[in-house]
Amino acid sequence: MKIAKLSYAAAAAAALLWLQAPAYGQGTPTPEISATSAGISPDHPEVEAGLSCVDCHSVKLDAQTTATKVWLSGNYLKYAAGEGIMGQEDVKKAIVEIIGGRKAKRTFVLGTCINNTPLTTTADFTLDPQTMTIYGMHEKGTTKLFHIQQNPRVSLNWHEEFKSWGKVLCVQVVGHAVLLDGNNPEFDKALTECVPYEELAAAMKIEPERARSMVKAGMLMSKITIDMVTVNNSAFEQKGFRKYQRWERPGAPQQTKAQE
Ligand code: HEC
Repeated sequence: MKIAKLSYAAAAAAALLWLQAPAYGQGTPTPEISATSAGISPDHPEVEAGLSCVDCHSVKLDAQTTATKVWLSGNYLKYAAGEGIMGQEDVKKAIVEIIGGRKAKRTFVLGTCINNTPLTTTADFTLDPQTMTIYGMHEKGTTKLFHIQQNPRVSLNWHEEFKSWGKVLCVQVVGHAVLLDGNNPEFDKALTECVPYEELAAAMKIEPERARSMVKAGMLMSKITIDMVTVNNSAFEQKGFRKYQRWERPGAPQQTKAQE
């Protein structure tokens, strides 16, 4: 609780400094800074302990120059720029093969963030390939759900334990989440079509209908619209493609694409 209070205090302090910023900058707004901006100059306004750069600055991150971008499409190893890139439909198909589709599930690590403080949590999720949406079932009242309520931007990762350089498989998702409660018709539809609640029923040795009403009464569903998926899969190389491939939802928010 103490931590939460502190970060609210920090946020309030940041907001106050924001308002006061013109006093430092002789009327100029707080400048946008580059993601590689490492330190602050001696004449930088004083920064109180507990504040981070992003409390006052918006950070420019174009994702065009990062290593990932080079691995995806640049001049890299045996590939000339633009070569070895799979078509979007094929990347999507590969993602569905790796993650599984409706009524399958994978244990992902889910990253959420509030007040500039990230948190990762492990949970089971199911992919609906038709909409490229991910669904998870969660006990009510956990920290990650409060994070999502305040900040829908999330990232998920599923990977195999890395064994050697030639055998890597991992999937990184960037998206935005909403929480659905049991009264929401979308909850009901996703439960019927996607979420394998029947497994829960079998584990608990109860009728599937009973499991359904239990989860509707006691749990929240996260619905994560995928904006971008980056896959690192050594097996792609055997088919003549780069091991890094990316699927992007057409029209996904530009800021999402800046995440790497
Ligand atoms: C409390 C709010 C606040 C925080 C936190 C903060 N800055 Fe600043 N920063 C400012 C303001 C206001 C200016 C504009 C100063 C001016 O125009 O005189 C500024 C200016 C800058 C500049 C351009 C001029 C200079 O002084 O170098 C850079 C670069 C910069 N900040 C980087 C950073 C970095 C990196 C961090 C994190 C380590 C950071 N800032 C944290 C408020 C903040």
